[in-house]
Amino acid sequence: MAIRIQAIRGMHDILPGQIHHWQRIEQAARGALDAYAYQELRTPIVELTDLFKRSIGEATDIVEKEMYSFADRNGDDLTLRPEGTASCVRAAIENGLLDQPRRFWYQGPMFRHERPQKGRYRQFHQIGVEVFGLEGPDIDQEVILLSRRIWRALGIEDLELQINTLGSSDERARYRARLVEYLRGRFEQLDEDSRRRLETNPLRILDSKNPTMAEVIAGAPVLTDDLGEDSRGHFERLCQGLGRAGVTFRVNPRLVRGLDYYNRSVFEWVSTALGAQGTVCAGGRYDGLVEQLGGSPTPAVGFALGMERLVALIAAQPETATGPSPHGYLITVGETAQVHGLAIAEQMRDALPGLRLWVHCGGGSFKSQFKKADRSGARYALVLGPDELAREAIGIKPLRSDEPQQTLPLSELTAYLAARVAAHPYP
Ligand code: HAM
Repeated sequence: MAIRIQAIRGMHDILPGQIHHWQRIEQAARGALDAYAYQELRTPIVELTDLFKRSIGEATDIVEKEMYSFADRNGDDLTLRPEGTASCVRAAIENGLLDQPRRFWYQGPMFRHERPQKGRYRQFHQIGVEVFGLEGPDIDQEVILLSRRIWRALGIEDLELQINTLGSSDERARYRARLVEYLRGRFEQLDEDSRRRLETNPLRILDSKNPTMAEVIAGAPVLTDDLGEDSRGHFERLCQGLGRAGVTFRVNPRLVRGLDYYNRSVFEWVSTALGAQGTVCAGGRYDGLVEQLGGSPTPAVGFALGMERLVALIAAQPETATGPSPHGYLITVGETAQVHGLAIAEQMRDALPGLRLWVHCGGGSFKSQFKKADRSGARYALVLGPDELAREAIGIKPLRSDEPQQTLPLSELTAYLAARVAAHPYP
């Protein structure tokens, strides 16, 4: 028997049983992105390897050991994109889009050859935003509020926002020297990974998840002490702004991020419900990157959310485990009622965007239709029979709540359903 070919480790099919979660997140994100008038941008999945080396940084995990790089038939060194920021910056420079402030968003698959585990895959999907040309903390706050709007639309309440500032590159260089000095003094306590990083990327040591490193990390100097007035002011204004907007956050001085391009504000939204891979969204400022990739100096800030991790979160919500159930299931008794029923259903769908309505098809007794209505997961059975037709009314039987059943004049049905659509939107 032929050996069956399987999907590549860490890369997954998204099947019909799961797709409604993806669509729901995409819809929630789109709603939020539209509310802030961000513009979508689509870039190729493959780029020159140099783009990622020069932006993410040679000494990062991603560039050192996680990129899917290959020589194409011309001998060009290409890489499947491990993230979206670098491509977005390249596209913005190349297409002359940085002549005025810009707010972009993108979505799609990213590729990193990491060790697969729950919440960590080799092909994963992000929705990201990148804003160019604005340097104040107000725009940092805007992108954080935008992300919060997505969680709200999805009914996700228990994410913690952690923020930190990485200062300017000079400030970071000063801090780096202090940190290296501190870590050299404790070389014996460092694990193998951290010893290697001491020379190449010492800030990343602070991000180590190895429990044997916890004590050294806890005692390490913090960057805040090396911040100048400008960076300090920027961060304070961001904290104040978030507070005024009612955003709860925690300043985490150990938050360093795994990509080299960041400066000043960085943030992560973290869930405790996902185990080790709890960060569902991460980002920050990268004011030097545009210039570093050959554009004119342009401040920038952005974030990306991880679709797989959000899917895991919302799939665990009891009300979404089964996907969007109908608001109503229309039962009709008799042929005349069937004809009228279809027409009424069309009117309701015209009048109420967002309404999810099933009309029973295939006939059958009231009892058997009612059973199907219940099994459909619908919130209300709407009943139209000869009696109701004669009275220009419709019967309403709540299937998922204690509301009383009632007979409603047909003229009131739109308003009745509108309230139910508003109470149970999807997303
Ligand atoms: P990142 O922290 O590497 O940042 O990734 C952002 C999010 O993508 C993570 O918080 C996580 O939810 C998800 N993610 C990352 N790697 C994986 C993986 N292997 N499996 C599943 N999910 C994953 C960036 O990519 C930056 N480009 C974000 C950014 C945009 N900063 C500024 N603008």
